[in-house]
Amino acid sequence: MKDRAEYWNQQYINQATGWDMGYASPPIMKYFASVKDKSLRILIPGGGYAWEVEQLWKLGFQNVFLLDFSHKALTLFRERVPNFPEEQIIEGDFFKHESKYDIIVEQTFFSSFEPSQRGKYVEQVACLLMDGGKLVGLLFNHEFTFSGPPYGGNQEEYLKLFQPSFHIKTMELCHNSIKPRLGRELFILLYKET
Ligand SMILES: C[S@@+](CC[C@H](N)C(=O)[O-])C[C@H]1O[C@@H](n2cnc3c(N)ncnc32)[C@H](O)[C@@H]1O
Repeated sequence: MKDRAEYWNQQYINQATGWDMGYASPPIMKYFASVKDKSLRILIPGGGYAWEVEQLWKLGFQNVFLLDFSHKALTLFRERVPNFPEEQIIEGDFFKHESKYDIIVEQTFFSSFEPSQRGKYVEQVACLLMDGGKLVGLLFNHEFTFSGPPYGGNQEEYLKLFQPSFHIKTMELCHNSIKPRLGRELFILLYKET
């Protein structure tokens, strides 16, 4: 895992962050516009530059947590959002993290793992969510022609992965993706089965 952390950290050092949108994801922010309880515990794992963390914090979600194992990404975040609480920045491996959240946000984190790791991701998300907690965000509905990351996939595959532990509230083509991803991603809202 140390090698993976170094790989990702180097991407930030080299500014080779082609996945970065430079602002908070519109479909994710649209979802949060309907969330009235600002005290919910929200985790954004593999958050990178973490535009959504910044935006949610500014909107008053006081319990939003950023997790990433790239020191460089987190340093840049700290510089950009200096008043964000340090205790809500977790520098570490997602798979070793232990806590409980109401909502976990997915945004190009799942696609950073080789498909063989996806079962582990689903298990860890389920473990980090409280009963009835939600996984919300986006998954690529697209196969890339190069070897990843990102690693693509399709709805059928995702349903098989998530259905045993989650109630699939929404998994559908995202209509308000950013232009380069339009038609290539699914919006998901999954409830952890109790
Ligand atoms: C493709 S980037 C996505 C960043 C961000 N979600 C975005 O959309 O801009 C993947 C991120 O996941 C982080 N990451 C990958 N594996 C991780 C792990 N096991 N634990 C913590 N962070 C991880 C990387 O450091 C990187 O910031």
